[in-house]
Amino acid sequence: MLKFDVLIIGSGLAGMTLALHLAEKRKVGLITKCDLLDGSSSYAQGGIAAVLDTEDSVEEHIRDTLIAGGGICNENTTRFIVEHSSEAINWLIALGVPFTRDETNRTGYHLTREGGHSHRRIIHAADATGAAVTSTLGLKIRAHPNITLLEEHIAIDLITSRKLGIDGKRCFGAYALDKSADAVVSIAAQSTIIASGGAGKVYLYTTNPNTATGDGIAMGWRAGCSVGNMEFIQFHPTTLYHSHSESFLISEAVRGEGAILRLPDGTRFMPQHDPRAELAPRDIVARAIDFEMKRHGLDCVHLDISYKPAEFIKEHFPTIYAHCLDLGIDITREPIPVVPAAHYTCGGLITDLKGRTDVDGLYAVGEAACTGLHGANRLASNSLLECLVIGKAAAEDIIAQRDIALPAIPDWDDSRVTDPDESVVISHNWDELRRAMWDYVGIVRTNKRLERALNRIKLLTEEINEYYSHFHVSNDLIELRNLVQTAELIVRSALARKESRGLHFSRDFPDTLPQGKETVLTPE
Ligand code: FAD
Ligand code: SIN
Repeated sequence: MLKFDVLIIGSGLAGMTLALHLAEKRKVGLITKCDLLDGSSSYAQGGIAAVLDTEDSVEEHIRDTLIAGGGICNENTTRFIVEHSSEAINWLIALGVPFTRDETNRTGYHLTREGGHSHRRIIHAADATGAAVTSTLGLKIRAHPNITLLEEHIAIDLITSRKLGIDGKRCFGAYALDKSADAVVSIAAQSTIIASGGAGKVYLYTTNPNTATGDGIAMGWRAGCSVGNMEFIQFHPTTLYHSHSESFLISEAVRGEGAILRLPDGTRFMPQHDPRAELAPRDIVARAIDFEMKRHGLDCVHLDISYKPAEFIKEHFPTIYAHCLDLGIDITREPIPVVPAAHYTCGGLITDLKGRTDVDGLYAVGEAACTGLHGANRLASNSLLECLVIGKAAAEDIIAQRDIALPAIPDWDDSRVTDPDESVVISHNWDELRRAMWDYVGIVRTNKRLERALNRIKLLTEEINEYYSHFHVSNDLIELRNLVQTAELIVRSALARKESRGLHFSRDFPDTLPQGKETVLTPE
């Protein structure tokens, strides 16, 4: 058994921020299921939204967030996060993150623009902001004497008072599979933080890395946490469409710097859908592309920035330029074929401004959490900001807590399971679930499709639970169990919403109700 003051599950920007703020005062165990840099954070392209320019203001950033969020953002949360945005960026700069400089700008940094923002306020490191941030912070994590980094450790379930048969509603740590040793370890901690990211892999097509399987949301739900707004899955409008490319994002900053969306015959279509055209919030642009693709029977639409000078394109988007060129697409001369794909989980475990869930000793931060910032649709580049601000607030809250006497933690009991007889059950159900979610719970929904999805999910859940209770755990089994749980939460939340709002569009309820409400599901 391992023991730390604080256990952090996940090493994306949320987990790293917490670890670095906590490590001055606490012994931290940071577990991550592959390697330190494996989460969505390292994939982030566009940048981080923050009020840095004196011509911009906190009020305008808040207003843009609330508008994109479709009327159900939590205003207190939004204010708190936006008010702390410049402090968060200064922390990153002090740690050495190499943001793109622009000496002609008052701030000294180049600020780009993305959909839904009324100002240029996205600080970035060219088009690979996430990698610049996580590799800088990652070096500090590896060097810190108070942080024990355990890579290749996948959390299976939280250790709670309910599981131990004792009074209260508290978390005492987690069980994790050490994949290199193929053994389950118990990890005891005064405070446990879920920083395990989102659930994009629940869909067949996604911009997310393989690690985004909703593990923390499912674990938190099983431990008794309420979840909020799970129906709001953000589909990014522009993922590269190419048969030889793994899923690859074409940053919204490309539209921010002037790219135009066109049909393959060259017709521009966004102005017919929204006066903000290509820079409308993401839900609107993704729905417009979906509409045009279905109307014209297209496999993709085109994103065209080729009219800008080649040097400008190469300087601002070196990663995108190089990736496309490798596939034979020269974006300085021709348009980029793009389609929408699942990108961001706006809902998650409900927390307050300090990252506290409704289970004592258990926090959730980052994409796994639902603080209320994103409402029905996240404003571009607000996600990394949320990881930074809530990560710091949660660390401060944890440091202020008094220690409790931890109970005896039993070892993981695998006395009644054996080695699996065949793995096809896992691969088949994995594919079936993701296909069903893509076909029935996508950008445009109907009651019938959602019910079809729920029926499939119920059957899959039975089969997966049966398999789980008979066989030793493996990475894929743990993820599949969490994926199916997360899918159920998404569909149940979507069925509960009798209107269309933000990212949830239902043909059966096309109108938006006058009074917007969060969707909250609470475990029995
Ligand atoms: P992640 O960075 O996803 O990290 C989760 C961590 O948890 C990973 O280390 C993972 O391995 C680990 N983990 C998961 N389950 C377990 C488990 N069971 N046990 C142990 N470890 C586990 N947002 C912006 O604000 N600006 C952008 O420019 C931007 N661009 C993006 C581009 C792409 C392609 C993608 C996919 C997302 C982008 N986003 C952007 C969204 C943003 O990157 C994510 O929302 C954010 O990084 C989430 O951070 P996180 O720390 O919560 O999770
Ligand atoms: C992008 O660069 O388009 C992603 C930004 C985000 O998801 O916030």
